[in-house]
Amino acid sequence: MSIAVIETIAELRTVTADARSAARRVALVPTMGALHDGHLALVRRAREVADVVIVSIFVNPLQFGPSEDLDRYPRTLPDDLARLEDLGVEAVFAPSALEIYPDGPAGTRVSAGPVGALFEGRSRPGHFDGVLTVVSKLLNIAQPHVVLFGQKDAQQVFLVSRMIADLNFPVGVEVVPIVRESDGLALSSRNRFLDAREKVAALRLSVALEAAESSADRGLDAVLAAAQSVLMGESLVELDYLSVVHPATFLPVDDTHQGRALVLVAARVGTTRLIDNMLIFLQSNRS
Ligand code: PAF
Repeated sequence: MSIAVIETIAELRTVTADARSAARRVALVPTMGALHDGHLALVRRAREVADVVIVSIFVNPLQFGPSEDLDRYPRTLPDDLARLEDLGVEAVFAPSALEIYPDGPAGTRVSAGPVGALFEGRSRPGHFDGVLTVVSKLLNIAQPHVVLFGQKDAQQVFLVSRMIADLNFPVGVEVVPIVRESDGLALSSRNRFLDAREKVAALRLSVALEAAESSADRGLDAVLAAAQSVLMGESLVELDYLSVVHPATFLPVDDTHQGRALVLVAARVGTTRLIDNMLIFLQSNRS
């Protein structure tokens, strides 16, 4: 049976309201389409934690900057629907931009605050305000019991989770681990832009994170040096940032920090910008 595609807010509200009144748990998996196995892992997890799974597919114009090519973003709805087939998805919500932003982009926005201006937000000003605004709208429209995000976009996970707590959205957040190719490359809709040489070069990101993890017992400087030396050895990799942050604040840790820490890396490989991250257990090198 093919999956129902819903294009209007009113229709989606009816579907999720009916599910709630039948005491069925509703999960929302927000996506921008171009679905890969990482998205499918979100959907599979959603099926484990809820009875009714809604996948939204909406390329959100608000999270693209003026210099980013919104029109170039892959739109692959028929393929996406085929990939979701047999995964037990109740409906795909695929609204138009006009349905979501009837008055254009000038309306109310949710601010991601100072953390929204760091890392990804530094190269993409306003990006996280756009993400939080559309996620708020999707939560208010679908009113799910649980919403799922991938750990691959660690800063997005941090900011959305904080918004949900700060603004008291009555929804649980489920974070699904990064899905990697067998060689370690984190799955991303952007991997399709890598040619064969760039794909090999892109492996440096996950290798750098592994090197960081192997050095975690020698402290922050060793972690950064280990990752840097892997990244520096490849001319096709242009590093944007490499940082170690506290998972609770998303702010860089100093060398007194002990315990869980998140290593973040972003780099341009050819013309494609890639991000990756890994949770490590850091020892202080000041002890
Ligand atoms: O991660 C994404 O695909 C997008 O940022 C999201 C969460 C669907 C909001 O547009």
